[in-house]
Amino acid sequence: MRILAIDTSCDETAAAVTEYTKILSNVIWSQASLHAKFGGVLPSLAKRKHEERIDFVINKALQNAKCRLSDVDAVAVTIGPGLAIALEVGIRKAKELSKKSDKPFIAVNHIEGHILSSLAKSGVSNLQPQDKILNSPALGIVTSGGHTEIIRIKKIGKYEILAQTTDDALGEALDKAARMLGLGYPGGAILEKLAKEGNSKKYPLPIPLLGQEKRMIFSYSGLKTSFLRKIDEVTKKNNTLSPQDVKDLAASFQESAFSHFIRVLNYILGHIEFNVTDIYAGGGVMANALLRKRVRDVCKKHNLKIHFPYSKRFYGDNAAMIGLAAGFKYQKKEFITDLLKVQRIPNLKINDVP
Ligand code: KG4
Ligand code: ZN
Repeated sequence: MRILAIDTSCDETAAAVTEYTKILSNVIWSQASLHAKFGGVLPSLAKRKHEERIDFVINKALQNAKCRLSDVDAVAVTIGPGLAIALEVGIRKAKELSKKSDKPFIAVNHIEGHILSSLAKSGVSNLQPQDKILNSPALGIVTSGGHTEIIRIKKIGKYEILAQTTDDALGEALDKAARMLGLGYPGGAILEKLAKEGNSKKYPLPIPLLGQEKRMIFSYSGLKTSFLRKIDEVTKKNNTLSPQDVKDLAASFQESAFSHFIRVLNYILGHIEFNVTDIYAGGGVMANALLRKRVRDVCKKHNLKIHFPYSKRFYGDNAAMIGLAAGFKYQKKEFITDLLKVQRIPNLKINDVP
C-alpha cells in the first residue's frame, strides 16, 4: 500500500510517498527565505510559489520513492488547518491526481499529521494493526508556528484538545521575539542558536500565567509585551544592544516561554483521569533541543514514555506525516468519494479530524 501525500498548508510545498509508517520519500521545498523580508508568511506569495513548485515537488517525491503515479494506492492531502489560499493549491492538485489515476482520495488534518509524526520509521514498513502502533490512550503535544496544543489521543483518529493557546502559538511567539531582536524569519531556530550562548538569568522575564496552570491554557501575548519592554530597558541602560545582550535576551525569552509550556504540561500530567503511558510530540518548535529536554524531564517525572520524530525533517511541515496519518485512514477505508464536497477548512480543529 502506497500513498502519495501533499501538504501546502503554509510556506512549505511538500510531497511524500509513504507505506504506512515507512517513509519512501519526503520532499520539502521551503519558501521561508522568500517570506523573510515580510517578517512572516504572505499568503498570496505562498499560493503563487505553491502553484509554481507543486508539480516539481510531487514528481521528485515519486522519483525518490522509485514509483509512478500509477503505482500509488491513494492520494492524500492536508485540507486544514492552514492558510486558505495555500491549502487550496494542494487540494486542487490532489483532486486532479486522484481523478487521473482513479485512486481513492484521503483528506487529512495537518495537526493529526504532527501528532503522529513520531511514528515514522526508517527502514521496514510497519504493518501492525493500528492499535499496536500507538499505545492509546495517550497524549499528543503539538508546538508549531500556528498551534500549541496538548491533546488526548483516545485512539488514532479520535482526539480531544486538553489545552491550547488563547492568543499566539509558541512558534509564533518565538518568531515575534526574534523579530524584536532584529533577527531573521522564521526566528525559532535562530533564537535557539543564540540562546545556547546566552545567560537566561541576566534579564529575567515573567513566566506567563504563573500559578494559574490549572486553567489549562497557554498565553504568550503578555510575554511579548514584557520582552519589548525589557529590550528597551537594556538598550537604554547600555546605550546599545550588544551581541551578548541579544544572546542573553534570547535565552530569557526561551526560558519563560518554555517554562510556561512545561508548567501547564506538568499540571495536566499530574491531573489526567485516564490511564496514559505514552506521549507523542511533534511540530516545528519541538526541533528545539532545550524544549525536548524539558519535555523529556517532565515525562520522566511522571513515568511516561515520550516519542519524538526520528529525523529533523519530520518536525516542521512535511507531507510524510500527512501520508502516515492517511495510512490509518486507508486501513479504515476512509475515502472521500464526492470530490466536489472536499474543501479547505482553514480553522479545522483536531476534534473534527475529517
Ligand atoms: O510545524 P511548523 O513547520 O509549521 C506550522 O505548522 O506552523 O512550525 C514552524 C515553527 C516556526 O515558528 C519556527 O520558528 C519554529 O517552528 N521552529 C523552532 C525551531 N525550528 C523551527 N522553534 C524553536 N527552535 C527550533 N529549533
Ligand atoms: Zn505544521
